[in-house]
Amino acid sequence: MRKTFIVGNWKCNKNTQEAQDFARLLRQNCRSIPEGVMVGVCPTHLSLEAVKQEMQGSDIQVGAQNAYWEASGAFTGQVSMKMLKDSDFNFTLVGHSEQRQFFGDTDEAVNKKVQAALELDLGVIVCIGESLEERESGTTEKVLETQLSEGLKDVKLSSAEKFVIAYEPVWAIGTGKTATPEMAQEAHRFVRQTCAKLLGEEIAAELIIQYGGSAKPANARELLDQEDIDGLLVGGASLDVESFTAIINA
Ligand code: PGA
Repeated sequence: MRKTFIVGNWKCNKNTQEAQDFARLLRQNCRSIPEGVMVGVCPTHLSLEAVKQEMQGSDIQVGAQNAYWEASGAFTGQVSMKMLKDSDFNFTLVGHSEQRQFFGDTDEAVNKKVQAALELDLGVIVCIGESLEERESGTTEKVLETQLSEGLKDVKLSSAEKFVIAYEPVWAIGTGKTATPEMAQEAHRFVRQTCAKLLGEEIAAELIIQYGGSAKPANARELLDQEDIDGLLVGGASLDVESFTAIINA
């Protein structure tokens, strides 16, 4: 039975004080996380440590929004996977569409990041998804297949415990447009089938596949009711503690 993993991606929002205050409230709200549900938040690198301190002793996971594959060196502006691991963070996002769009992440870079995270036994959420143009031209499956086969090239997993895929149609991110539950389910089923080919049937069956793109309290339940949707990666609606809590309780 797959768990449900709800993650808040705060993007470039909240200074350290705001992140810390939010973390404290979320922790209070999540004193009893529903059975079978896992919760995580991704603050900016600047606030990671403060949020981790607030979450100490709770079940709420703390992850980064991105990290670099080399352990250390002359890579100005980067924080490495190794540093995240050394500081006991739970996971990192990789290949978020905004990283791809604004900061040039390619499938090859995503692959290096995935490999580095797995080598360190750091959890990783690999984000994939098609643009509006790609959806409208009927190439959604082809795009997802390429992102998966190149992003997961040579990846070997003995378990899916620390490995998550987030399907986030780019046209639904931050736009208020959500994929219908049926549309999302169709894409999720395709992602799982593709992962079965790449990673094996057993891993694919265990794999948590999150949906992301304007997820909110009003649509969380019907998205999560879909057979292949095992969680949500929430941007905008995770910035408000009440709405994020409502999503967790959904
Ligand atoms: P959104 O963002 O919920 O604001 O659409 C989701 C994401 O980018 O992870």
